[in-house]
Formats: sequence, structure tokens, C-alpha cells
Amino acid sequence: MLKKNTITLKDNSTGKEIELPILRPSEGTPTIDVRSLYRELGYFTYDPGFLSTASCRSSITFMDGENGILRYRGYSIEELAAKSTFLETCYLLMYGDLPNQDELKEFDVIITHHTILHEAFKRFYSGFRRDAHPMAIMVGVVGALSAFYQEENDVHDPNCRLISAHRLISKMPTIAAWSYRYAHGLPFMYPKNSLDYSSNFLYMMFATPAEDYTPDPVMVKALDLLLILHADHEQNASTSTVRLTGSSEANPFAAVAAGIASLWGPAHGGANEAVIRMLMDIIESGKDVQHYIDRAKDKTDRFRLMGFGHRVYKNYDPRARIIRKVCHDLLKNLGANNEYQQLFDLSVQLEEIALKDEYFISRNLYPNVDFYSGVILLAMGIPLNMFTVIFALARTVGWITHWDEMMQDPESRIGRPRQLYSGELTRKYVKLEKR
Ligand code: CMC
Repeated sequence: MLKKNTITLKDNSTGKEIELPILRPSEGTPTIDVRSLYRELGYFTYDPGFLSTASCRSSITFMDGENGILRYRGYSIEELAAKSTFLETCYLLMYGDLPNQDELKEFDVIITHHTILHEAFKRFYSGFRRDAHPMAIMVGVVGALSAFYQEENDVHDPNCRLISAHRLISKMPTIAAWSYRYAHGLPFMYPKNSLDYSSNFLYMMFATPAEDYTPDPVMVKALDLLLILHADHEQNASTSTVRLTGSSEANPFAAVAAGIASLWGPAHGGANEAVIRMLMDIIESGKDVQHYIDRAKDKTDRFRLMGFGHRVYKNYDPRARIIRKVCHDLLKNLGANNEYQQLFDLSVQLEEIALKDEYFISRNLYPNVDFYSGVILLAMGIPLNMFTVIFALARTVGWITHWDEMMQDPESRIGRPRQLYSGELTRKYVKLEKR
């Protein structure tokens, strides 16, 4: 008689059977605990890209890809997008519950008072070429934070972890804005404590010492919303990178720098930049949209419809739905014939054609978060190569919260996957002159 919550695995070559426990999540897909597999049967599991592998337990974010559901700590992304602020969402992700008024005020004070960077950081920036991609600068500068906070570097001390989290969330807008300022030869603007989180970032991006600058409230709201939507997304490539890096008890700033490097790729956070480049290419080429849809379907062509498809969502990405609506409203506000409308209209056209096409239907390929976000960022005056930087700025809270969860988890161990070796068997070394 089999126990209820197990699955039986039989090795047909030896007849040996083992029972593996089925772990029940609070919601979502049941998970087979395979930890005893190697010990009991002498096998590894093979799962490149982690298609069927849960790498950890987590109580931060829930996704249901089939039904297009995303929740942070139990709150739907739609409700947070409509009612919350980025700072409140950061608190929710980090502490597990929405703050009361006093808690939010205190959190705001803490985050606001850690935004300044050590003056020595200016020298880091000047070491980069002017045309360096801001994501390259981010990887270097965020990693360098680990050299500045050596007193609170005990990763097993909850207070050290908390102060590192606060520092990262606070300093990321300054680091991000300065990477833009450096590339454009503009003076670095120091943060202003009277401004909220998103206004402060726009201020450090666009203000100059020569005149007053007040961030446009419509743009501030749109940015804050984008930050909420990008704040966490469970075990994506960059978050898993942060966890894996941190699993060796590495410094959190170095672990987050590794996450930034992972995010940069066009299959991940770099897609928002790639979407706009694709739309511009389409416009410049003068070819019709169908030509690009056909290229995306052609397996001999490396071209993919950027901003389409997702490992988990086999339905419309709920974040894309929200962003599409905000983008539409924002452009309407800017007035008819604004320069971004053409890009938005082209995206809508691509989406409409793709969603009726058998290729995209059969593979469940829908617009993802990056498909419409770029148009909003462009309308804010954010240059293309800063798009992924803003994604990184938003995702920092997710990364550091996952890192902290991992550090507290008694089951977590150094991440060390196994492999299916396909190389040579033992060979004898042959002297150079005899080869
Ligand atoms: N255009 C054309 N075909 C696609 C696309 C696309 N954008 N995405 C997936 N496919 C095809 C793919 O060729 C494959 O076809 P087949 O079964 O015939 O071999 C099938 O759909 C499954 O794709 P996959 O690459 O095996 O799926 P994956 O889960 O490994 O990759 C993805 C997911 C997001 C990397 C992929 O959909 C992609 O490259 N999309 C474009 C880049 C992009 O928009 N990335 C942003 C992801 S969302 C933001 C974030 O969280 O980072």
C-alpha cells in the first residue's frame, strides 16, 4: 500500500523501487522531493534550464503561468499597481506584510537617508569609457559597494542583512542615474531628501545645477508603476543567479552585481531595449509587419519577436496588460501625433497579428512585460540603453529579499548542480613534439 503523498520510482534495470515525497505548495504545482534519489538509486536528474525543477522554497511571490497570475506576498499585481507605491511594495516584499502608516514613514526615512554614495564612487565612474553601456557600469559599481561596507558583512547576522538591503534599495537610483550622467558628460546630481523615491531618480537623471527641476507628476506615477511591476518575479534567471552566488555566503553586493549581469541579457531584462530596437528597425526597413512575423517563425533565422514569450506565462503576462493600458493613456495625454505613438501602434499591430498566428498560438507566445514598457520609458526621456538599468533598479528589492530568504532557510545549501558528462574517457598525455 503506497503512502498518500509519495510517488514511486522504479529502476527497471534493477527492479529497485523508491518512494519520493510529494511536497505540497500553499498554491501551485506539487513538487517531487528528489534529494534522496542519488543516495538511494545512484541517479541524477537532467533538467537543463530548470524546466521542471524547483530550486528552493519561497514565500515571496506566486506566479501561475497558465492563468496569467502574479502576486507579491498574496497581493495581486493588479491591485498593487492600482493602489500601492513602489516604496510600500518594497516594504511588502521585504517584510512580508503591508506597512502601517508609522512603519511606512520609518521605512521611507531609512531609504531616503541611505541614498548618498561615498564620494570615492565618482572615481569609479571616471574609470569607464564614456560610451560604456550603463549596465556594464552597474555591474562594476554595485559590486564595488562590497568594498565600502566591510563592518556589516556578516551574512548570518539578520541586522547586517537588513542594512545591506536598505543600502542597496536606497543607492540603486543614485548609481543608475549617475551611470547616465557620466555617459553624457553631465555633472552628478546628489539625491534630494524632500523627493519621493521615483521623483528622486528622475531628478538625479534630468536636473542640472544650473536651474530648478520639478519631475513631471504623470511621469513619476508611470515610473513608480513600472518599478512595482518589475519588483519581483520569483525564480527568474537573475534572481536565481543572486541566490546561487549568495549560496556560497558571498557578499550581498557582489551577489546582486551577478544578478545585474544576468539581467542584462536580451532573453531576460535586456529585452525591453531589444523591443524598441526591433520596432525602430521595422519602421526604418519600410517592410510590413508580416515580414517580421514570418522571420520570427523561421527556424533558420535567429530573429525572435522580442517582448514575446515567457518561460512561465503561457498566457498574457499580467504586467504587460497593465503596461499596455498605461502606455495607451500616457500617450493620449501627450497629445496626438507624438513621436512615440508610431512605436505603440506598431506594437499593437504586431501583437494583433501574432496572437492570430498558429505559430504563436500553438506555442502560447504572448506579449511579456517588456513588450510595451519601452515606449513608456522613451516617452519619459529615458535613453534606450538605460531601460535595463531601470529594470535592475526595480528588481533590486526582489533580489535582496530572495537572498535574505535563502540565508534564513535551514534547508538551503551551497548551489552546486551536477552534470551529465559527455566528454572523453581517460587519455594519456602525449608530449608536444609527438602530437
Ligand atoms: N519569437 C519567436 N519564437 C519564439 C519566441 C519569440 N519571441 N519565444 C519563443 N519562441 C519559440 C521558440 O523558438 C520555441 O519554438 P520551438 O518549440 O519550435 O522550438 C518555442 O517558442 C519555445 O521557446 P523556448 O525558447 O524554448 O522557451 P523558453 O522558455 O526557453 O524561453 C524566452 C523563454 C522568454 C527566453 C523566449 O520566449 C524569448 O526568447 N523571448 C524573446 C525575448 C524576451 O522577450 N525576453 C523577455 C522575457 S520576460 C522579461 C523577464 O522576465 O526577463
